[in-house]
Amino acid sequence: MEAAPFSTGRPRRLRRTAALRDLVAQTRLHPRELVLPMFVKEGLDAPAPIPSMPGVVQHSRESLRKAAAEAVQAGVGGLMLFGVPTAKDPVGSGASDPDGILNVAIRDVVAEVGDATVVMADLCLDEFTDHGHCGVLAADGSVDNDATLARYADMGLAQATAGAHVLGLSGMMDGQVGHVRRALDRAGHLDTAILGYTAKYSSAFYGPFRDAVESSLEGDRRTYQQDAPNLDEALRELALDIAEGADMVMVKPALPYLDVLRRVADAAAPTGIPVAAYQVSGELAMAEAAFAQGWLDRDRTILETLTAIRRAGARVVLTYWAVRAAQLLDERTGRR
Ligand code: PBG
Repeated sequence: MEAAPFSTGRPRRLRRTAALRDLVAQTRLHPRELVLPMFVKEGLDAPAPIPSMPGVVQHSRESLRKAAAEAVQAGVGGLMLFGVPTAKDPVGSGASDPDGILNVAIRDVVAEVGDATVVMADLCLDEFTDHGHCGVLAADGSVDNDATLARYADMGLAQATAGAHVLGLSGMMDGQVGHVRRALDRAGHLDTAILGYTAKYSSAFYGPFRDAVESSLEGDRRTYQQDAPNLDEALRELALDIAEGADMVMVKPALPYLDVLRRVADAAAPTGIPVAAYQVSGELAMAEAAFAQGWLDRDRTILETLTAIRRAGARVVLTYWAVRAAQLLDERTGRR
């Protein structure tokens, strides 16, 4: 047997130039895989900054239209809309009211960008309820799963009628995907897709988001969102969402849950159902605080975190940095 040539076992050869590294890169980022979450607040006439989310604003109806057009121009693949109403009540009436802020904003954005991007809407009651929970409450104060499903169906019909392409079911009620799917089908909305928030963990990283939507929540969502120690449970949620008709599934938050994302991505692969991940408000806030100190490099951190999330198995990534990332990717590839 001949001895191996002297210089085998030298992986650094493929790292020598940027061109070599690019040629063999296993994971690529593209702006079309990125979804920008956006907030629109009823009654605003100018955008309002969100202090715990540097660079992110609550939009007025007008500034939302403009920012949506800019995101599409930058090449971003989708938009996820969240509404902040002026009035709240126990059942979140504003969520299913055709004139409620979120439904109005869906119509605005669809009129502005049409099919040039994917218009997604958050389907959850928490922004609209005066107690801040994702569902309606039973007499004993607990979140009533099945009574909530009826409200989700109404909300989903309002969003589909307003023209949303994809409904993002983020409430973590059991049976939510199947229930909304049936309601959509019965009303003839066969082409409206459902993104199930399959593995949504009860997380401290949602803190800044609750500022953004002016959440009324006191307490927590531990009786319906997943518990951080659990991994296998995410696969149970996945099986249920797929059986109920989810078109896409999601893991959230992203960076602290990359192990969950990998498991869900592997399990979903044979079904062909795309997996998304949500880089949430706290992930942004944590990094932005370090950028402000000059402790982390903003652009490099953005691309590295998004690459990590894609590498762990996400086809689609929701990120508040979507527009900046798209610009950076354009600069790198000289696209357009
Ligand atoms: C619920 C919802 C939440 C987020 C997205 N959808 C908040 C929650 O569950 O408390 C959090 C997103 C983020 O933190 O960026 N409507």
